[in-house]
Amino acid sequence: MPELNHLLLLCRAGFERECAVEIQERAAAVGIYGYPKFKGETGFVTFICHVPGDALALTERVAWDELVFVRQWAACLPVLTDIPKQDRVGFIAEQLEGFPLCGEVWVEAADSEQGSALQGLCRKIVPPLSSALRKQGVLSNKRNQRLPRLYIGWMDERQLYIGYVLPRHASPWPQGILRLKFPPAAPSRSTLKLEEAWRFFIPEEAWPKVLEPGMKAVDLGACPGGWTWQLVNRYMKVVSVDNGPMDDALMKSGQVTHAVTDGFTYTPQSPVDWMVCDIADKPGRVIDLMIKWIVRGWCRFTVFNLKLPMHKRYESYIQCITKLDEACKEAGIPLHRQVRHLYHDREEITVFACQEQDWQLMLDQLGR
Ligand SMILES: C[S@@+](CC[C@H](N)C(=O)[O-])C[C@H]1O[C@@H](n2cnc3c(N)ncnc32)[C@H](O)[C@@H]1O
Repeated sequence: MPELNHLLLLCRAGFERECAVEIQERAAAVGIYGYPKFKGETGFVTFICHVPGDALALTERVAWDELVFVRQWAACLPVLTDIPKQDRVGFIAEQLEGFPLCGEVWVEAADSEQGSALQGLCRKIVPPLSSALRKQGVLSNKRNQRLPRLYIGWMDERQLYIGYVLPRHASPWPQGILRLKFPPAAPSRSTLKLEEAWRFFIPEEAWPKVLEPGMKAVDLGACPGGWTWQLVNRYMKVVSVDNGPMDDALMKSGQVTHAVTDGFTYTPQSPVDWMVCDIADKPGRVIDLMIKWIVRGWCRFTVFNLKLPMHKRYESYIQCITKLDEACKEAGIPLHRQVRHLYHDREEITVFACQEQDWQLMLDQLGR
């Protein structure tokens, strides 16, 4: 087996620095050391581990879905640059000396301007490559997700990464992107942020319990109503808090009360099941508001966005999450929380939180 020490990481173009800082910190926390390399706007980072074999170990020791800025990863050989156009398949096959038997092959480009130009190439090469690799005995005849996923990352015309990762240790979505169809009845594209958050953070089998019809919800910063639409679509009763106008059709559903007021001073009459918040304000103000709701027990579950500042985005994220964790600890509230820079997020990150006991109960019911 090749002792891979390059970890290829995909992220949103423009967030390479955040991805690089995050992986270096998370690697050090599990005793793996190395250094990141990246160029801005490329949508990828490489993390070079000092010890051979550590790139794969890192994908095993850190849970992929606990990373914020990393969308996808694979342990790889060093970058290959002289790729002959006339025989790309043969070239890739030659590099696989000593690779384990893989159960699938993924060929991907970065989610960037350069990457988009390579999507066609990535798609077209899969059938001839798969058949060559099966003949070579590197790829199983049938797809098998218990075997490693062979990963070919075409970062630009001249940069190819070849490696592998176990499917259970990597994102199940191509490029680590959970693509969703826009529901035509929803009043804004923002609706996809909440849907992606639910799909990412909450196992589908838990939806009937966690997103139960009849639940009470509050949507802070709701206008025109994309997030409220998602709550209404799950048959919840919603109070939508915003000084702006709500979508007429949504109001006609009869499930929505529009509270024309400031989300920072709004107080619910009684605790609700869900509070979601998409108020576009300073992250420090929003996290204080979220802490107030959680510590006072005003909601059981929450999804909220934190808009990151232009500079020091990573530091701002850490500050906010540390503040949340410390406030809950001080209040004696064990919190389950996850953070992710979702595909439908731009300059913001999304947080899902609930009391640890609610989360454990849900996992127990799922038999996990
Ligand atoms: C990004 S938009 C929300 C979009 C909404 N989630 C949707 O899906 O349609 C941000 C909203 O926050 C609202 N907002 C900003 N400051 C607010 C405040 N202090 N209280 C309540 N809403 C606020 C704005 O009026 C705006 O409608």
